[in-house]
Amino acid sequence: MTKKIAVLAGDGIGPEIVAEAVKVLKAFKQDGLDIELEHGLIGGAAYDETGSPLPEATLEMAKQADAILLGAVGGYKWESLDISVRPEKGLLGIRSQLNLFANLRPALLYPQLADASTLKPEVVAGLDLMIVRELTGGIYFGQPRGIRTLENGEKEGYNTLVYRESEINRIGRVAFDIARKRQSRVCSVDKANVLECTELWRETMTTLSKEYADVELSHMYVDNAAMQLVRAPKQFDVMVTTNMFGDILSDCASMLTGSIGMLPSASLDENGKGMYEPIHGSAPDIAGQNIANPLATILSAAMMLRYTLDQPDFADRIESAVSKVLDQGLRTADIFSAGMTRVSTAEMGDAVVAAL
Ligand code: IPM
Ligand code: MG
Repeated sequence: MTKKIAVLAGDGIGPEIVAEAVKVLKAFKQDGLDIELEHGLIGGAAYDETGSPLPEATLEMAKQADAILLGAVGGYKWESLDISVRPEKGLLGIRSQLNLFANLRPALLYPQLADASTLKPEVVAGLDLMIVRELTGGIYFGQPRGIRTLENGEKEGYNTLVYRESEINRIGRVAFDIARKRQSRVCSVDKANVLECTELWRETMTTLSKEYADVELSHMYVDNAAMQLVRAPKQFDVMVTTNMFGDILSDCASMLTGSIGMLPSASLDENGKGMYEPIHGSAPDIAGQNIANPLATILSAAMMLRYTLDQPDFADRIESAVSKVLDQGLRTADIFSAGMTRVSTAEMGDAVVAAL
């Protein structure tokens, strides 16, 4: 049966990088990949057109689709808008409306890029870790939230960090299940020494781990985890953590691999339906210049084939094609180093298609 893919390019470099991933997906049609692509508006582009960063039509399209491919949202242009209609709200809205609670952010170092990392090659060589970030709860969505004016006229901003046992258990299960297919080690990251909410997180993970006797569970405070990620990142297999800690740690982990332009992500619901996007942002400073790295988005399409469309062979082909173009010395500006061939966004996409 034809699988429907909603393509939401978004803002900044979003349209450029998504176009390259679409090229790669379309190249598989001749090999029997039965997909139909539909395009929708999200983020600032959607706000400009409709007054909402997540128009009803986009939400409906995303709900009907089997999978969603997303570029990036946001930009200087919309920064002064009220927070309720900022581009980021479109992204948070779609994550939450579609119940995409499990965010998988792999950080894999391609050996060809060991020199592109700011860390010493021996610290990062062979790095392969998976961050499992809770995506629809925690302080990002907790109520009450807002900015209020106190009696003395001073303003006060407030947000709420809240997790239920059921939310912790379901993200914990995702992490344990993934660990079983890897090195069977889960490190749960919290701030249980200070925050009650994550004290419950730690207790719940510990109880859940009894169902996964074959997986080794460890706990780490988030400040230490940030330090360990840059000190000795290879100690980690799977890390599982809250929405905000995962946001921060995944940016940190991305730089271990040389460039944030290399890292894909999957955001899955209970049934494996997913939204796939690079973990980087919309990079408005380089938008429209055809210099952005499309590999994170192309690798996100590979994750889509693996996790939602059940086409691991096509996913493998994309991942080896990416490795091949790196072997050929092709580099976008963010991963460029002396002796390599500098290519544009579109040239990189074409090279991946040619290497499939
Ligand atoms: C990410 C981004 C988003 C987040 C922003 C754009 C809302 O930083 O996907 O990591 O904070 O989750
Ligand atoms: Mg982030």
